[in-house]
Amino acid sequence: MAVNMKGRNLATLHDLTLEEMQNIFSVCADLKQKYRTGEATPLLKGKTLAMIFQKPSTRTRVSFEAGMTHLGGHALYLGPNDLQLKRGETIADTARVLSRYVDGIMARVFAHQDILDLCEYSSVPVINGLSDLTHPCQVLADLFTIIEKRGELKGLKMAYMGDGNNMAHSLLVGCAKTGMHISVATPKGYEPKADIAGWARDDARPTGARVEVTTDPVTAVKDANVIYTDVWAGMGQENEHAERVKTFQPYQVNSALAAHAKKDYLFMHCLPAHRGEEVSAEIIDGPNSVVFDQAENRLHVQKAIMALLM
Ligand code: CP
Ligand code: NVA
Repeated sequence: MAVNMKGRNLATLHDLTLEEMQNIFSVCADLKQKYRTGEATPLLKGKTLAMIFQKPSTRTRVSFEAGMTHLGGHALYLGPNDLQLKRGETIADTARVLSRYVDGIMARVFAHQDILDLCEYSSVPVINGLSDLTHPCQVLADLFTIIEKRGELKGLKMAYMGDGNNMAHSLLVGCAKTGMHISVATPKGYEPKADIAGWARDDARPTGARVEVTTDPVTAVKDANVIYTDVWAGMGQENEHAERVKTFQPYQVNSALAAHAKKDYLFMHCLPAHRGEEVSAEIIDGPNSVVFDQAENRLHVQKAIMALLM
């Protein structure tokens, strides 16, 4: 573990240096290898992770919980009805109390400000397990997956199709930091937030990554090495679903659109997916799809994050 990250929070990828990201990837590769060979890795023996979930989850919940078990520690699931938050206890007080009991806090929240408040008031490391603004753990797993498949990130091109949401934000910053070109195509009115695109442009300066935001799906996918998409209506936007399905149709990842990418493109999706909406079944279930490798790597990359921070 070359870079000391003990005690740090992971709120967004913008907070990490390239060296720290590479450190996470190298610890991740080591832990993945050891998990495969059955070598024990009790790096967090006796430690506890509190997992706050304001929203549902399959991957984040199970991979963090299993990951803590693999590292010799214990994870505590705290769903929307398990804490006093709904009855008016503040995030600040919750953070201060939990810090007296546990060694780390992972949280999935609606408002990103809740992550920032946890970071401010907690005395133990806080890990963002998805907010309305960002999803850093997912993108670290995604970038690790691309490294496994293609050996590098620098100079490759990612095309992101659809909603300029939390995934688009974290991909913009993650690609820019690691020298991967990124082109995000969204309908008008659904662009990524300008300040996050600004972070990505700042982060791209030292790495030479090109950062593009467009409304044209073909421009974005042209010669891409990776095509990424996400649901058109995220958690909390269910009431906009019908309207969004109409607006987002031209951004569906299907064979006609994918024909503009490099022949050996990787198809990626954070999951859960809606076949027939943001992606056709033939693409997500086809030979270029690596969606389950991404999901698997959530486990390994988050073990690395916890082992480094906690
Ligand atoms: N990709 C992801 O975060 O999945 P869950 O919502 O199932 O955790
Ligand atoms: N953008 C999606 C990601 C789910 C992992 C959402 O926020 O619901």
